[in-house]
Amino acid sequence: MKALVTYCSRTGNTEKLARAIYDALPCEKELIPIADVKDASGYGIIFVGFPVEAHSVPTEALPLFKILPAGQPIALFCTHGALRGGPLPKQALEHAASLASRVKVLGTFGVRGQVSPRIIEILQRSAEHQAWAEEAQSACGHPDTADLTDARAFALEMVAKIGH
Ligand SMILES: Cc1cc2nc3c(=O)[nH]c(=O)nc-3n(C[C@H](O)[C@H](O)[C@H](O)COP(=O)(O)O)c2cc1C
Repeated sequence: MKALVTYCSRTGNTEKLARAIYDALPCEKELIPIADVKDASGYGIIFVGFPVEAHSVPTEALPLFKILPAGQPIALFCTHGALRGGPLPKQALEHAASLASRVKVLGTFGVRGQVSPRIIEILQRSAEHQAWAEEAQSACGHPDTADLTDARAFALEMVAKIGH
């Protein structure tokens, strides 16, 4: 089986997660930035990663969802400033899963990713961003070693689900 790990990342947080997932995969594999994926066919599993932006998926990631083959097994992962396991990142992962309605979503995974204090300060002033930006103040240092360990475990769990 061949696996694809693809991701977008502005400041490197999601890329760290993508590399941890890629490293953990025990099969033939490729790691490709999302904008460079022109053909998504021929993979047994595709890991799709993105930073949560404005409670959702960044526009840069949207074309990929359109070229995923029908029935394709995928696993979604993200980084976010808001608290792990809380309602804000859950909403973004649910949105991503709804974009992938033609495919088979095997699982989702999210960890916190640090945001620069300057960005937090600016975004905290807008009503749209205030809630996550406040939570993001304590995301400094993430993704950390424990997050990357969890990402590797997620990768193996997803591969086990397709039975290869
Ligand atoms: C413009 C912008 C919007 C963001 N919106 C959200 C958001 O809605 N919810 C959230 O939890 N984090 C939000 N974040 C924080 C990022 O998701 C987080 O820092 C992520 O780890 C960045 O990943 P990257 O380094 O791979 O780009 C936002 C960050 C930026 C710069």
